[in-house]
Order: sequence, then C-alpha cells, then structure tokens
Amino acid sequence: MSALVQIADLKKVYQTGEVRFEALKGVCLSVAAGDFIAIMGHSGSGKSTLLHLVGGLDRPNAGSVHVGDFALHTMNETALAKFRRVHIGFIFQFFNLIDNLTVRANVELPALLLEKKDKKAIRERSKRLLERLGIGGQSDKHPWELSGGQQQRVAIARALINTPTLLLADEPTGNLDSASSQEVLQILSEFNEQGQTILMVTHDPIAAARAKCVLFIHDGCLVDSMPGGSAKKIAQRLAELR
Ligand SMILES: Nc1ncnc2c1ncn2[C@@H]1O[C@H](COP(=O)(O)OP(=O)(O)O)[C@@H](O)[C@H]1O
Ligand SMILES: [Mg+2]
Repeated sequence: MSALVQIADLKKVYQTGEVRFEALKGVCLSVAAGDFIAIMGHSGSGKSTLLHLVGGLDRPNAGSVHVGDFALHTMNETALAKFRRVHIGFIFQFFNLIDNLTVRANVELPALLLEKKDKKAIRERSKRLLERLGIGGQSDKHPWELSGGQQQRVAIARALINTPTLLLADEPTGNLDSASSQEVLQILSEFNEQGQTILMVTHDPIAAARAKCVLFIHDGCLVDSMPGGSAKKIAQRLAELR
C-alpha cells in the first residue's frame, strides 16, 4: 500500500490576543490508502485541529501535509476549497446538515458544486447511497424530521457522494446513543472494507476500537499507537494519558 497522507513535523499555533497556544507541536503521520485510522485523545489534545489540517480546512504554521499529489501547506484558500470539494468527505459530531434542504438535496449538494456534473448520474448515486445506508425512504424529508442516527447517515451519504479520496470523521458518534453509534461505526467499517480510506478522531474507546490502527494524541503530540480491536485496552491507554 502506498502512503496517501504524509504529514511531517506539523505545527499549529492559535493566537488569541496576547495568548499564544501551541495546539500541534510537530506531528508526523502517514496514512496508507485503504487504511482506517482512529486518532484518540482527551478533549483539547489537538484532534480536531489535526483533522482540519489534513482536510485543508485550516493551514499549519510549520511542517507539511501531503494528500496524494497535493501539498496542502503550499496551497492558497481557493485551491484548498477546490481540493476539499473533490477529494475530502467530512463527517462531524453535529451532522452539519442544511435544515431547509431535503435529505436528497443535502446529499447531492457537494456533487452539484463540482465543475463537471451530470445531474442524472448524481441523482442515481444519491439514491443508491441512501438506499445502501438504509434511509432510501427518507429522501424527501428534512433533516429535522429524522433521528440523530438517521441524520448522521445522511451526513455519511453527503460525505461519500463525490467518492472522496479520504473520509474524515470528527467524533462521528459523539452525539449519538449507543445503538446508533454502533450502526454508524458498522457503516464506516463496511465502506473501509470496500476500500474507503478513513481517518476518524474520537475520545470514545468503543469507536476507536473499530479502526485498524489507533494513534494517541496528547497535548499536541502523537505519543503512542496500537491496533484497533479492544476498546478496553484503548480505554486503559487513554486513562494513562491524564
Ligand atoms: N480557533 C482557536 N483559537 C484558539 N484556540 C483554539 C482554537 N481551536 C482550538 N483551540 C485550542 O487548541 C486546543 C486543541 O483544540 P482541538 O483541536 O479542538 O482539540 P480536540 O478536538 O482534541 O478537543 C484546545 O486547547 C483548544 O482550546
Ligand atoms: Mg474536537
């Protein structure tokens, strides 16, 4: 497997007035195509910051981020926006769906924003994705008519509509009950088995256990890694990072 994501000595500093906070202190990371990696850490450890830099939502203060042939740390805002639209699917804790659009319109929106588009093919693909995710019957509803688990499945369909190079998930189960969490994690595992590369950040050991590999972040540094599988072992390691 070739490295799809290569991160070297990545640093991110937040400056709020006089206060300077180093959120990432030199992170190195490599993600192979087809991987499912969980980044695990306590609140404030730098998980979202790292994910935002990998997805081109923000820019680093130092270091490099390569995703495929793109050197994100050298790109301007316009180039990053285009890169995100074409190559990245994002899933967030609070779904971030657009309330006044139907489920179908939410899913199709990122595809309709692409330069080259085929509306008929997009409709077919959104239909297939929604059916595949078990919410084919909800297409004409609005997000607020659905349960949290259903809304997250809509968000997954939206993230996958452009067949992204990389699926990034920020606490995807953080706002779900345990049954819905398991469903969402099962869906992510199945897409990964079909070849989708996934990078997920979470502070939930049960979610992290579903990944092939778990990386631990603490105070802006990656400090350890272990295989997925055992939520108990992951929880133990996390507890040691206080
Ligand atoms: N825009 C920002 N401005 C200032 N500080 C920030 C900003 N975003 C995050 N931080 C700080 O950086 C640290 C890491 O944040 P974050 O990456 O969101 O952590 P996590 O996702 O692991 O909870 C936290 O201490 C947070 O308060
Ligand atoms: Mg976060």
